[in-house]
Amino acid sequence: MKELKKLFDNNRAWIAQKCEKDPSFFQNLSESQEPKYLWIGCSDSRVPANEIVGLGAGELFVHRNIGNLFLHTDINCLSVLEYAIDFLKIKHVILCGHYGCGGIQAAMEEQKQGVVDHWLRCVRDVYARNKEDLEAIKDLNKRSDRLVELNVKQQVLNICHTPIVQGAWARKQSLWVHGWVYDMQTGVLKDMDLCFSSINHVENIYRIN
Ligand code: CO
Repeated sequence: MKELKKLFDNNRAWIAQKCEKDPSFFQNLSESQEPKYLWIGCSDSRVPANEIVGLGAGELFVHRNIGNLFLHTDINCLSVLEYAIDFLKIKHVILCGHYGCGGIQAAMEEQKQGVVDHWLRCVRDVYARNKEDLEAIKDLNKRSDRLVELNVKQQVLNICHTPIVQGAWARKQSLWVHGWVYDMQTGVLKDMDLCFSSINHVENIYRIN
């Protein structure tokens, strides 16, 4: 397709650049992958996971969706998490939200969007549980940024509530689950100081091992 020729040109330029540095780059990568991190982030095109953390091909296992959600009924993210932990033996799961997230903003509005309203329903639940704190913030951009942070925390907990993570902890596999937020205006990644590494961080009602 002529309109997309540029992408194929880019691809050939990328191959040339990689092979110039390391002629066996593709051969080595095609044989195996040993990423150390699983990144779960937003689909937003302005949050390119590998670029933000300076990691190349083979170094980051990635799952992205609108609003960086981890839902216990979503077989897609559950499969990614299980594969990352049980087979790739990844030690760090990073759930990364971002300020100015359109998905989070949509979840604060009354306007109907479509199927995505079902997807983002759980963000409205996070809002409802923190309504007083959120509505004390009068600036709507700041309020949605606070919801971004609260959503990150909820999704980190959702990850920790899976039998996949708790199973890893039960068999003494090293595993940390982190919550981060990316600031698109500055490029800065912020660690939310949410770092869970054992069942002790999980409320009793969510313990299943
Ligand atoms: Co977003």
